Amino acid sequence: MALRVDERARVRGSWLWLLWHCLASAGCSHRPQLRSTVPRRGFAKVAQRESEVADRLSKEPHRCVVQLFHAKHFPDLRMYCFVMELCSKGNLTSHIRKLRSNDSSAGFGEYVAPAEAFHWIGQLLLGLEHLHVMNMLVRDLKTDNVVLSDQGRADRIMAKITDFGLCRFGTEATGDWTFDAPPGTPAYIAPEVIKGQNYGKAADLYSFGAVIWVILTGGLKVLTAGLPKVEPPCAEMAHKWDYSVLAQNCKLIAACVQNPEKHNARPLPSGAAKELVLGLTRDEAEKRPSLPSLRRHKALVHLKLPPAPASSKQADAWLATLCCLSCGGHGCSLCRLMEDGGILLEDSPLRRRRPRKTPVPRRSSLQALVTRS
Ligand SMILES: Nc1ncnc2c1ncn2[C@@H]1O[C@H](COP(=O)(O)OP(=O)(O)O)[C@@H](O)[C@H]1O
Ligand SMILES: [Mg+2]
Repeated sequence: MALRVDERARVRGSWLWLLWHCLASAGCSHRPQLRSTVPRRGFAKVAQRESEVADRLSKEPHRCVVQLFHAKHFPDLRMYCFVMELCSKGNLTSHIRKLRSNDSSAGFGEYVAPAEAFHWIGQLLLGLEHLHVMNMLVRDLKTDNVVLSDQGRADRIMAKITDFGLCRFGTEATGDWTFDAPPGTPAYIAPEVIKGQNYGKAADLYSFGAVIWVILTGGLKVLTAGLPKVEPPCAEMAHKWDYSVLAQNCKLIAACVQNPEKHNARPLPSGAAKELVLGLTRDEAEKRPSLPSLRRHKALVHLKLPPAPASSKQADAWLATLCCLSCGGHGCSLCRLMEDGGILLEDSPLRRRRPRKTPVPRRSSLQALVTRS
């Protein structure tokens, strides 16, 4: 259980609610995390939206999106509480920063993308698709909003999307800025959003392209406040409201991809990866590849992602293939998901893992047992 210390006093006032929800979540397979948000002026809408999304996601969870168990508004305390799945490996920015800091021979830290990098990209693709299918735009996809979970297996860290405060219901939006600023984080916002034009799913795909660039290259070879800058390139704003300059960011990413040495960047690992990032971060939204077509992209085809739109069950089965001891995570005919979440390796020459003989009771039947006793 994690709790922001500065808000503990406020949370204490509602300890009965928390205790009840933590006990209610105890039957869940993942440990819950508690996040509380005290809305400052202008932030109330963000917290409210997050709570509405939490409500939807609790009905249709997905393994590649952080699971929100409960959201509660305490109007008298001006506070929102979210009880969510704990992803104990922290966010992707910190993870990449640590990898860069581990080897600081060049002053900026060398970086080799982790072995799971492409698995994470596939997981983010499925998570993003789930939110789009649920008729939502994320609008703030970035490495800070991707959290890593090992779910008890240190060798299999998986990526999940979190932070739904800027989500929009409906996948087509007018260019109006609700908060007097373009929704999102400057280095990740699509040019059409900056220009105040109508936008849709392709805006999230732009951010996805920027996230892929950061995962594969580690971000810019620059230090900010003594720490490696784990970010895509971003045009300098002359003043606080100088958003229009951010529409140039797609050109800055393209320059980093095409001529990394000259632009304080590292090269992408392959021509296919270059094509992927350049395609997703194109200026023209309609020319960016769609999530279904990305499955056939040269850089991602080896992931053998389930066909679009992948149901939560198909996503689970695909995730199971990543754990297959026989194929080493490339997906094969030997691995498939069992009902209890375990993996059956049929006729595997390496290892045969049988499902548990006693089925694990579902939460509802657990609750029935408790009630009966
Ligand atoms: N489910 C989670 N498990 C672990 N850490 C989380 C989780 N959700 C968020 N975090 C951490 O908290 C940080 C801030 O959370 P986030 O939801 O992005 O709020 P905000 O950006 O509005 O402050 C994230 O960058 C991540 O490091
Ligand atoms: Mg965030």
